[in-house]
Amino acid sequence: MYCRPVNGPGTQPPVTPGDAPIDWATLRAAAGAAAARAYAPYSHVHVGAAGLTAAGDLVEGSNVENASYGLTLCAECGLVSDLARRGGGRLVAVSIVAGDGDPVAPCGRCRQLLFEHGGADLLVDDGTPAPTRRLAALLPEAFGPRDLVTRRS
Ligand code: THU
Repeated sequence: MYCRPVNGPGTQPPVTPGDAPIDWATLRAAAGAAAARAYAPYSHVHVGAAGLTAAGDLVEGSNVENASYGLTLCAECGLVSDLARRGGGRLVAVSIVAGDGDPVAPCGRCRQLLFEHGGADLLVDDGTPAPTRRLAALLPEAFGPRDLVTRRS
């Protein structure tokens, strides 16, 4: 098990990089810990997201609500912000869970956010011991960065 320390030693649980089998239990636990840090005083739905990058880094996010409701930031928003802040990279697996620890279906907007940084092959936790669900199944025929290159006129 390996994870580059990104918040100082001992602050991040280890996850496996590259071609190694994905440690889903650890990823899910990190998402659960992130859910515990959510700011959700309006919906009381606490969501945490944890992602593994191709380089083996762990990135996380929690939902942050707002009194104006529409400005709520989903946990996945925090995750992609964390990814960028840490220097970027490609997501290979994500777990998104609610406060009960069980996976949550990412909302439509967040499927698009995840597509930008993980593409169709991104593995998305489905609650099974070794998830094989890909983002392609959740966001088929996605519009993405490549379209901005190929569809210009
Ligand atoms: N939520 C997320 O954080 N991610 C999702 O993909 C679905 C919804 C949050 C937003 C809001 O704070 C709460 O769940 C209820 O919608």
